[in-house]
Amino acid sequence: MRAWVNGRILDDPEGPAVAVSDHGLTVGDGVFEAVKAVRGRPFALGRHLERLASSAAGLGLSAPNLDEVRRAVGEVLRGRSDPLNRIRITYTAGPAPLGSGRGDGRPTLIVVAAPLAEAAESTRVSTVPWPRNERGALAGLKTTSYGENVVMLAHAKARGATEAVMANIAGHLCEGTGSNVFYVVDGELRTPTLKSGCLAGVTRGLVLEWYGGREVDEPIDVVRQASEVFLASTTRDVQPVSAWDDVELPVPGPTTKAAQEAWHEREATMLEDLG
Ligand SMILES: Cc1ncc(COP(=O)(O)O)c(C=O)c1O
Repeated sequence: MRAWVNGRILDDPEGPAVAVSDHGLTVGDGVFEAVKAVRGRPFALGRHLERLASSAAGLGLSAPNLDEVRRAVGEVLRGRSDPLNRIRITYTAGPAPLGSGRGDGRPTLIVVAAPLAEAAESTRVSTVPWPRNERGALAGLKTTSYGENVVMLAHAKARGATEAVMANIAGHLCEGTGSNVFYVVDGELRTPTLKSGCLAGVTRGLVLEWYGGREVDEPIDVVRQASEVFLASTTRDVQPVSAWDDVELPVPGPTTKAAQEAWHEREATMLEDLG
Protein backbone atom coordinates (compact mmCIF):
# COMPACT_ATOMS: atom_id res chain seq x y z
CA MET A 1 0.00 0.00 0.00
CA ARG A 2 1.22 3.52 -0.77
CA ALA A 3 -0.43 6.52 0.85
CA TRP A 4 -0.34 10.26 0.14
CA VAL A 5 -1.82 12.57 2.81
CA ASN A 6 -2.12 16.34 2.50
CA GLY A 7 0.84 16.73 0.19
CA ARG A 8 3.27 14.03 1.24
CA ILE A 9 3.82 10.31 0.87
CA LEU A 10 3.69 8.59 4.27
CA ASP A 11 6.72 6.55 5.29
CA ASP A 12 4.42 4.11 7.09
CA PRO A 13 1.00 3.89 5.40
CA GLU A 14 -0.40 2.16 8.48
CA GLY A 15 0.90 4.88 10.81
CA PRO A 16 -0.82 8.05 12.10
CA ALA A 17 -2.03 10.29 9.30
CA VAL A 18 -4.94 12.58 10.19
CA ALA A 19 -5.99 14.67 13.19
CA VAL A 20 -8.06 12.83 15.82
CA SER A 21 -10.70 15.53 15.33
CA ASP A 22 -10.95 15.07 11.57
CA HIS A 23 -14.65 15.38 10.74
CA GLY A 24 -14.41 12.53 8.26
CA LEU A 25 -13.21 10.27 11.08
CA THR A 26 -15.55 11.49 13.82
CA VAL A 27 -18.84 11.84 11.92
CA GLY A 28 -18.30 10.64 8.34
CA ASP A 29 -18.16 14.17 6.92
CA GLY A 30 -16.28 13.35 3.76
CA VAL A 31 -16.52 12.02 0.24
CA PHE A 32 -14.53 9.42 -1.62
CA GLU A 33 -13.78 7.64 -4.87
CA ALA A 34 -12.47 4.18 -5.70
CA VAL A 35 -10.61 4.10 -9.00
CA LYS A 36 -9.14 1.07 -10.70
CA ALA A 37 -5.64 1.24 -12.21
CA VAL A 38 -4.52 -1.29 -14.80
CA ARG A 39 -0.73 -1.67 -14.83
CA GLY A 40 -0.36 1.76 -13.30
CA ARG A 41 -2.87 3.54 -15.58
CA PRO A 42 -6.02 4.82 -13.89
CA PHE A 43 -9.35 3.96 -15.50
CA ALA A 44 -11.86 6.77 -16.19
CA LEU A 45 -10.05 9.07 -13.76
CA GLY A 46 -11.73 12.16 -15.23
CA ARG A 47 -15.20 10.79 -14.50
CA HIS A 48 -14.23 9.82 -10.97
CA LEU A 49 -12.81 13.30 -10.32
CA GLU A 50 -16.00 14.91 -11.63
CA ARG A 51 -18.04 12.76 -9.26
CA LEU A 52 -15.68 13.56 -6.36
CA ALA A 53 -16.31 17.25 -7.01
CA SER A 54 -20.08 16.83 -7.25
CA SER A 55 -20.23 14.67 -4.08
CA ALA A 56 -18.17 17.36 -2.27
CA ALA A 57 -20.53 20.09 -3.51
CA GLY A 58 -23.57 18.02 -2.46
CA LEU A 59 -22.14 17.58 1.02
CA GLY A 60 -21.26 21.29 1.23
CA LEU A 61 -17.48 20.81 1.32
CA SER A 62 -15.17 23.26 -0.41
CA ALA A 63 -14.22 22.18 -3.92
CA PRO A 64 -11.29 19.75 -4.00
CA ASN A 65 -8.27 20.81 -6.06
CA LEU A 66 -8.59 18.23 -8.83
CA ASP A 67 -5.11 18.96 -10.24
CA GLU A 68 -3.69 18.15 -6.84
CA VAL A 69 -5.74 14.94 -6.63
CA ARG A 70 -4.49 13.93 -10.07
CA ARG A 71 -0.87 14.58 -9.05
CA ALA A 72 -1.37 12.53 -5.87
CA VAL A 73 -2.81 9.64 -7.91
CA GLY A 74 0.30 9.77 -10.11
CA GLU A 75 2.54 9.71 -7.02
CA VAL A 76 0.90 6.71 -5.34
CA LEU A 77 0.96 4.77 -8.61
CA ARG A 78 4.57 5.57 -9.46
CA GLY A 79 6.62 2.39 -9.82
CA ARG A 80 3.75 0.04 -9.00
CA SER A 81 3.93 -3.03 -11.19
CA ASP A 82 0.80 -4.85 -9.96
CA PRO A 83 -1.61 -5.79 -12.75
CA LEU A 84 -4.45 -4.09 -10.86
CA ASN A 85 -4.54 -1.46 -8.15
CA ARG A 86 -7.40 0.13 -6.30
CA ILE A 87 -6.88 3.83 -5.73
CA ARG A 88 -8.89 5.27 -2.89
CA ILE A 89 -9.33 9.05 -2.82
CA THR A 90 -10.79 10.43 0.41
CA TYR A 91 -11.60 14.11 0.92
CA THR A 92 -12.98 15.26 4.27
CA ALA A 93 -13.99 18.48 6.02
CA GLY A 94 -10.74 18.27 8.03
CA PRO A 95 -10.21 19.07 11.73
CA ALA A 96 -13.47 20.19 13.38
CA PRO A 97 -15.29 20.38 16.72
CA LEU A 98 -16.32 16.96 18.05
CA GLY A 99 -20.05 17.25 17.23
CA SER A 100 -21.85 17.42 13.90
CA GLY A 101 -21.09 21.13 13.34
CA ARG A 102 -18.21 21.87 11.00
CA GLY A 103 -15.15 23.87 11.92
CA ASP A 104 -13.08 25.98 9.59
CA GLY A 105 -10.20 23.52 9.39
CA ARG A 106 -8.40 22.84 6.13
CA PRO A 107 -9.91 19.85 4.27
CA THR A 108 -8.01 16.58 4.39
CA LEU A 109 -7.05 14.86 1.15
CA ILE A 110 -5.86 11.25 1.23
CA VAL A 111 -4.93 9.13 -1.78
CA VAL A 112 -3.97 5.48 -1.34
CA ALA A 113 -3.07 2.75 -3.83
CA ALA A 114 -3.19 -0.95 -2.95
CA PRO A 115 -3.17 -4.11 -5.10
CA LEU A 116 -6.62 -5.24 -6.23
CA ALA A 117 -7.53 -8.85 -6.96
CA GLU A 118 -9.28 -9.71 -10.23
CA ALA A 119 -13.06 -9.95 -9.69
CA ALA A 120 -14.60 -13.44 -9.56
CA GLU A 121 -16.22 -14.63 -12.80
CA SER A 122 -19.64 -14.60 -11.18
CA THR A 123 -21.15 -13.96 -7.79
CA ARG A 124 -24.18 -14.40 -5.55
CA VAL A 125 -26.22 -11.51 -4.16
CA SER A 126 -28.59 -11.28 -1.23
CA THR A 127 -31.49 -8.89 -0.67
CA VAL A 128 -31.28 -6.99 2.61
CA PRO A 129 -34.26 -5.89 4.71
CA TRP A 130 -33.17 -2.23 4.94
CA PRO A 131 -34.00 0.41 2.30
CA ARG A 132 -31.86 3.12 0.70
CA ASN A 133 -33.50 6.48 1.37
CA GLU A 134 -33.81 8.08 -2.04
CA ARG A 135 -35.05 11.29 -0.37
CA GLY A 136 -32.25 11.45 2.21
CA ALA A 137 -29.78 14.33 2.44
CA LEU A 138 -26.97 12.10 1.13
CA ALA A 139 -28.88 10.33 -1.67
CA GLY A 140 -26.70 9.89 -4.73
CA LEU A 141 -23.54 11.19 -3.01
CA LYS A 142 -20.48 9.04 -2.49
CA THR A 143 -19.80 9.99 1.12
CA THR A 144 -17.71 8.32 3.78
CA SER A 145 -20.92 7.81 5.79
CA TYR A 146 -21.08 4.18 4.64
CA GLY A 147 -21.99 2.55 7.98
CA GLU A 148 -25.31 1.31 6.55
CA ASN A 149 -23.45 -0.35 3.70
CA VAL A 150 -21.12 -2.07 6.16
CA VAL A 151 -24.09 -3.60 8.04
CA MET A 152 -25.84 -4.60 4.80
CA LEU A 153 -22.74 -6.23 3.33
CA ALA A 154 -22.08 -8.21 6.51
CA HIS A 155 -25.70 -9.42 6.37
CA ALA A 156 -25.24 -10.58 2.77
CA LYS A 157 -21.87 -12.21 3.45
CA ALA A 158 -23.40 -14.20 6.31
CA ARG A 159 -25.74 -15.64 3.65
CA GLY A 160 -22.96 -16.66 1.26
CA ALA A 161 -23.23 -13.64 -1.06
CA THR A 162 -20.60 -11.03 -1.93
CA GLU A 163 -23.04 -8.18 -2.43
CA ALA A 164 -26.17 -6.92 -0.69
CA VAL A 165 -28.91 -5.51 -2.89
CA MET A 166 -31.51 -3.14 -1.52
CA ALA A 167 -34.80 -1.53 -2.44
CA ASN A 168 -35.46 2.14 -1.78
CA ILE A 169 -38.18 3.63 0.42
CA ALA A 170 -40.66 3.36 -2.48
CA GLY A 171 -39.96 -0.40 -2.65
CA HIS A 172 -38.18 -0.14 -6.00
CA LEU A 173 -34.96 -1.91 -6.85
CA CYS A 174 -32.11 0.50 -6.01
CA GLU A 175 -28.50 -0.78 -5.95
CA GLY A 176 -25.86 -2.82 -4.16
CA THR A 177 -23.66 -1.49 -1.37
CA GLY A 178 -20.85 -0.88 -3.85
CA SER A 179 -22.35 -1.65 -7.23
CA ASN A 180 -25.22 -0.90 -9.60
CA VAL A 181 -27.61 -3.61 -10.74
CA PHE A 182 -28.63 -4.53 -14.31
CA TYR A 183 -31.23 -7.19 -15.11
CA VAL A 184 -32.93 -8.64 -18.15
CA VAL A 185 -36.70 -9.04 -18.45
CA ASP A 186 -38.37 -10.04 -21.74
CA GLY A 187 -34.98 -9.78 -23.44
CA GLU A 188 -34.58 -6.13 -22.41
CA LEU A 189 -31.64 -4.91 -20.32
CA ARG A 190 -32.81 -2.61 -17.53
CA THR A 191 -31.30 -0.70 -14.61
CA PRO A 192 -32.81 1.64 -11.98
CA THR A 193 -32.87 5.37 -12.76
CA LEU A 194 -30.77 7.80 -10.73
CA LYS A 195 -34.02 8.96 -9.05
CA SER A 196 -34.07 5.57 -7.30
CA GLY A 197 -31.36 6.97 -5.01
CA CYS A 198 -28.59 4.79 -6.46
CA LEU A 199 -25.14 6.18 -7.04
CA ALA A 200 -24.40 7.34 -10.57
CA GLY A 201 -21.82 4.59 -10.99
CA VAL A 202 -19.05 5.27 -13.49
CA THR A 203 -19.34 1.65 -14.66
CA ARG A 204 -23.15 1.94 -14.91
CA GLY A 205 -22.79 5.05 -17.07
CA LEU A 206 -20.27 3.39 -19.39
CA VAL A 207 -22.35 0.21 -19.75
CA LEU A 208 -25.32 2.37 -20.79
CA GLU A 209 -23.13 4.28 -23.27
CA TRP A 210 -21.23 1.30 -24.70
CA TYR A 211 -23.95 -1.33 -24.69
CA GLY A 212 -27.29 0.29 -23.88
CA GLY A 213 -30.15 -0.54 -21.57
CA ARG A 214 -33.33 1.09 -20.33
CA GLU A 215 -33.40 3.12 -17.10
CA VAL A 216 -36.60 2.31 -15.25
CA ASP A 217 -37.81 2.03 -11.64
CA GLU A 218 -39.73 -1.12 -10.77
CA PRO A 219 -40.62 -2.97 -7.57
CA ILE A 220 -37.66 -5.02 -6.37
CA ASP A 221 -39.64 -8.24 -6.92
CA VAL A 222 -39.10 -7.72 -10.65
CA VAL A 223 -35.88 -9.67 -10.22
CA ARG A 224 -38.01 -12.80 -9.74
CA GLN A 225 -38.85 -12.48 -13.46
CA ALA A 226 -35.29 -11.71 -14.54
CA SER A 227 -33.57 -14.15 -16.87
CA GLU A 228 -30.14 -12.59 -16.17
CA VAL A 229 -28.62 -10.17 -13.68
CA PHE A 230 -25.23 -8.49 -13.49
CA LEU A 231 -23.46 -6.07 -11.19
CA ALA A 232 -21.53 -3.07 -12.48
CA SER A 233 -18.79 -1.43 -10.45
CA THR A 234 -15.19 -0.28 -10.50
CA THR A 235 -13.90 -3.43 -8.79
CA ARG A 236 -16.27 -5.87 -10.55
CA ASP A 237 -16.59 -4.34 -14.06
CA VAL A 238 -19.54 -6.31 -15.54
CA GLN A 239 -19.97 -9.26 -13.19
CA PRO A 240 -22.64 -11.93 -13.82
CA VAL A 241 -24.86 -12.88 -10.88
CA SER A 242 -25.28 -16.65 -10.44
CA ALA A 243 -27.90 -16.49 -7.70
CA TRP A 244 -30.15 -13.83 -6.18
CA ASP A 245 -31.28 -15.13 -2.78
CA ASP A 246 -32.75 -18.55 -3.67
CA VAL A 247 -33.12 -17.87 -7.42
CA GLU A 248 -30.38 -19.46 -9.54
CA LEU A 249 -29.41 -17.59 -12.71
CA PRO A 250 -27.38 -18.55 -15.81
CA VAL A 251 -23.85 -17.12 -15.99
CA PRO A 252 -23.12 -15.40 -18.14
CA GLY A 253 -26.48 -15.07 -19.87
CA PRO A 254 -26.41 -13.88 -23.51
CA THR A 255 -27.10 -10.21 -22.76
CA THR A 256 -24.53 -10.14 -19.96
CA LYS A 257 -21.98 -11.77 -22.25
CA ALA A 258 -22.63 -9.15 -24.95
CA ALA A 259 -22.32 -6.34 -22.38
CA GLN A 260 -19.03 -7.85 -21.15
CA GLU A 261 -17.74 -8.00 -24.73
CA ALA A 262 -18.70 -4.37 -25.34
CA TRP A 263 -16.90 -3.50 -22.11
CA HIS A 264 -13.70 -5.35 -23.04
CA GLU A 265 -13.65 -3.77 -26.50
CA ARG A 266 -13.73 -0.22 -25.13
CA GLU A 267 -12.12 -0.49 -21.72
CA ALA A 268 -8.58 0.37 -22.82
CA THR A 269 -9.76 3.68 -24.31
CA MET A 270 -10.48 4.97 -20.78
CA LEU A 271 -7.03 4.21 -19.31
CA GLU A 272 -4.97 7.34 -18.69
CA ASP A 273 -1.22 7.84 -18.80
CA LEU A 274 -0.30 10.14 -15.94
CA GLY A 275 3.28 10.49 -17.16
C1 LIG B 1 -23.31 2.69 -3.38
C2 LIG B 1 -22.58 2.44 -4.65
N1 LIG B 1 -23.28 2.18 -5.77
C3 LIG B 1 -22.67 1.94 -6.95
C4 LIG B 1 -21.28 1.92 -7.05
C5 LIG B 1 -20.62 1.64 -8.38
O1 LIG B 1 -19.99 2.80 -8.85
P1 LIG B 1 -18.69 2.77 -9.78
O2 LIG B 1 -19.09 2.05 -11.03
O3 LIG B 1 -18.40 4.20 -10.03
O4 LIG B 1 -17.63 2.05 -9.04
C6 LIG B 1 -20.52 2.20 -5.91
C7 LIG B 1 -19.06 2.19 -5.99
O5 LIG B 1 -18.37 1.79 -5.11
C8 LIG B 1 -21.18 2.47 -4.69
O6 LIG B 1 -20.48 2.74 -3.58
